[in-house]
Amino acid sequence: MSAGSDDEAREWSAAFATASTDGMEAYEEALVGPMFTPWGEYLLDALTVTQGERLLDVATGPGTVARLASARVGPAGHVLATDLSAAMLAVAEAKGNVADGSPIEYRLSPAVPLAAPAASFDVACCQHGLQFFPDRQGALAEMRRALRPGGRMGLAVWAGVETCPPFAALRDAIGEVMGLDAAERYARGPWGLHAPRALADMVTAAGFGEVSVDETARPVRFEGGAAQLDRSLAASGLAVEIGALNSDMRAALGSAVADKLRSLTDRSGAVTSHLTSQIALAVAH
Ligand SMILES: C[S@@+](CC[C@H](N)C(=O)[O-])C[C@H]1O[C@@H](n2cnc3c(N)ncnc32)[C@H](O)[C@@H]1O
Repeated sequence: MSAGSDDEAREWSAAFATASTDGMEAYEEALVGPMFTPWGEYLLDALTVTQGERLLDVATGPGTVARLASARVGPAGHVLATDLSAAMLAVAEAKGNVADGSPIEYRLSPAVPLAAPAASFDVACCQHGLQFFPDRQGALAEMRRALRPGGRMGLAVWAGVETCPPFAALRDAIGEVMGLDAAERYARGPWGLHAPRALADMVTAAGFGEVSVDETARPVRFEGGAAQLDRSLAASGLAVEIGALNSDMRAALGSAVADKLRSLTDRSGAVTSHLTSQIALAVAH
């Protein structure tokens, strides 16, 4: 697989671009609290974001990292948050301002070309977005362009799906009911750029220095268990196909999801496991 782009990235990116409000609400309800918010805190810690800084959040989705950053940079700072999905940005904007945070400016923009001014930011980040971009190298160059010299860049990109067991279970459930091709297309969207060396090379080629890529596993708990993870499928690149299943097939998929998650499900019904991500850090020279 090419680390620079692939068909699954295009498929998922197109799915986000045309996503329904329901799909993006599913993302917010099922995934933001248990996984994207804690990973966002982790990324901002790694970037040592401080008061008064100007931060760019690329592929902000429902504003997950932008909102955490707004609190960290405070009223003297500034956050620009971009995404190509109008439905995602609508969810973000509906959340309102962060108390005692900087203003957040949301802007509808693909990663390439990126609607952000040059040499204007202290920090640029992208949490679990790069793997979806049809032009990953171009996206890194755009983030580099937006940073001032010495500005810091941080990326989070999931490691392989086997290192994220709840989602390996969803992939297996899809495989059982919808076939192996669908299962592969599901997994190769978010988890399709597991190539630490290639990631480091891409970041370096975009004009960054002091490049590091580390793989980190962190615990995760989905209080709503299998139903919560099933709900996340409405926010996936296969949402339209899954939505088009007849009622018997959809019920079979729900049963398969519960079955594949059984070993991760505790007595209260919650799913407890871990997720593994690559964290890339670099400095714009
Ligand atoms: C998994 S979500 C991550 C959202 C957010 N960073 C978070 O941590 O919750 C991936 C995001 O990438 C965005 N995206 C996908 N393809 C894109 C592209 N080509 N340009 C810009 N954003 C894109 C999607 O709309 C979606 O909001």
